[in-house]
Amino acid sequence: FQPKLLAGKRVLLTAGPTAEPIDPVRVITNRSSGKTGYALARAAAEAGAHVTLVSGPTALTAPRGVRRVGVQTARQMHEAVLAVAPLADVFIAVAAVADWRVVNASTQKIKKQGGNASGLPTLSFEANPDILADVAALPDGPWCVGFAAETENLAEHAEAKRRSKGIDLLVGNLAQDVMDADTTALQLFDAQGVHPMPAADKLTAARRLVAEIAARLPPRGPL
Ligand code: C5P
Repeated sequence: FQPKLLAGKRVLLTAGPTAEPIDPVRVITNRSSGKTGYALARAAAEAGAHVTLVSGPTALTAPRGVRRVGVQTARQMHEAVLAVAPLADVFIAVAAVADWRVVNASTQKIKKQGGNASGLPTLSFEANPDILADVAALPDGPWCVGFAAETENLAEHAEAKRRSKGIDLLVGNLAQDVMDADTTALQLFDAQGVHPMPAADKLTAARRLVAEIAARLPPRGPL
């Protein structure tokens, strides 16, 4: 008999993009299918975890046994995550969160000729909260895993990101390889260095990643 790798653990994930309104019919968003995050949610549930998946808008349905909380904006995702994070054992941030939101979003649809003298609207932005950094900073918070999709200098950016966010494990991949794709080649960055994983379909890669996370989790403290 082999116990499941994450039996009884509470795993919280984010997945998909966020969508930041410009007006009631237009949004600013990131390119993210949600496939990697949903595959990880499924793999964590298969490994015996209680899984909550906070998801931005995607075309995917929640994996069996996974509690899905649907959100649109980064601020909604932040609120939904922070409500659950103090009770989670593991937090895996996979979502492609929009870095900025539109401050002057219109409550009515902006008309084509409704902008400035040139007829073009002017958008002003402000920064969205960094969900992963905020969870990583919680006292007694969950063990945190981040993702980085870079277009170049992956190792450099990934290790810098791991340190600046104060997280234990950062999973890197090349954005051009992974977007919309069904396969992925992940590299793990931890305090020991970089560990490349073989290219695989996203579910296989997710199952391997769950095994890597389970192997790194500190033993549960006294109850
Ligand atoms: O900061 P950056 O977007 O480069 O880092 C990516 C990692 O941080 C991913 O794990 C992503 O889910 C997470 N993140 C977040 N909240 C943000 C921005 C990124 O949780 N506002």
